[in-house]
Amino acid sequence: MRLLLATLLLVIAGAPRAATLTIDTGAGPRALTTEQLLSRADVREVRVPDDVSYHRETRYLAVPLKALLPGVAADAHLQFVALDGFAAEIPAEAVVDGRGAEAWLAVEPPGKPWPALGAGKAGAGPFYLVWTSPAAGHIGPEQWPYQVATIRVLADPASRFPAMRPADGLARDAPERHGFTVFQRNCITCHTLNGQGDAKLGPDLNLPHNPTEYLRADMLRTLIRNPQDLRRWPQSKMPGFDRAVLSDADLDDLVAYLKHMSMRKAPH
Ligand code: HEC
Repeated sequence: MRLLLATLLLVIAGAPRAATLTIDTGAGPRALTTEQLLSRADVREVRVPDDVSYHRETRYLAVPLKALLPGVAADAHLQFVALDGFAAEIPAEAVVDGRGAEAWLAVEPPGKPWPALGAGKAGAGPFYLVWTSPAAGHIGPEQWPYQVATIRVLADPASRFPAMRPADGLARDAPERHGFTVFQRNCITCHTLNGQGDAKLGPDLNLPHNPTEYLRADMLRTLIRNPQDLRRWPQSKMPGFDRAVLSDADLDDLVAYLKHMSMRKAPH
């Protein structure tokens, strides 16, 4: 009863309770408390001139994220799961080698709660990913996950989804191989291929039929550049990929990859 009362009082006072961050690099989850994080030798006070969530300059006690993820490969993906279950994915490369952009895990200090993110909203704590020099690493506003509870390392799609891989026998610099990279960068968030992948929004791009089997080559390119130039309806969900995002050479290689995969169908 006393404990319950004390907890209630804490909640009423709005004092942040010590929180726990779970980090899973694949070798089993590891739990780190606020206190453990704040007593690390590499904690710094970090100044964030243009905080994406608070829209002003902020300062945090923060740990270099890289130091919390030893041995993580640059081609892996980091998944940040928030308290409410929302997950953001960031390529590990941005954290391991940000080309000047540095990722910091800001830690909300007990007794000094961060301000609310808006009227009636909670703050960015208990853990928040902030960047210094984000522009140097092309870090976008969706890559500042807040209210983080778990950081998970996912392997690169080629090892998670082997049925998406082009043939092993291809030359290292084969267009189909590069096309697979282009596919992972632009299409994998919405399309599965050979039934593999996490996407749920768009159709599978190989099963039962591959678009290179039923769309004329120029029409497929038209569709990728701007789906509305091929078929038009109000609730179409696929965005277009213009030359700033996808060069002509990338598009050639992407189509070569799709064509190649039409000859590598998974049993269905
Ligand atoms: C934001 C999600 C999204 C992304 C990213 C995306 N697509 Fe799509 N795509 C869709 C959806 C949804 C459809 C179904 C039509 C629609 O609603 O626009 C579709 C339809 C298609 C079709 C037509 C399939 C058919 O037979 O009707 C092709 C081909 C295609 N996408 C290829 C691609 C390629 C290649 C990429 C990467 C360059 C890509 N898409 C990226 C969501 C996406």
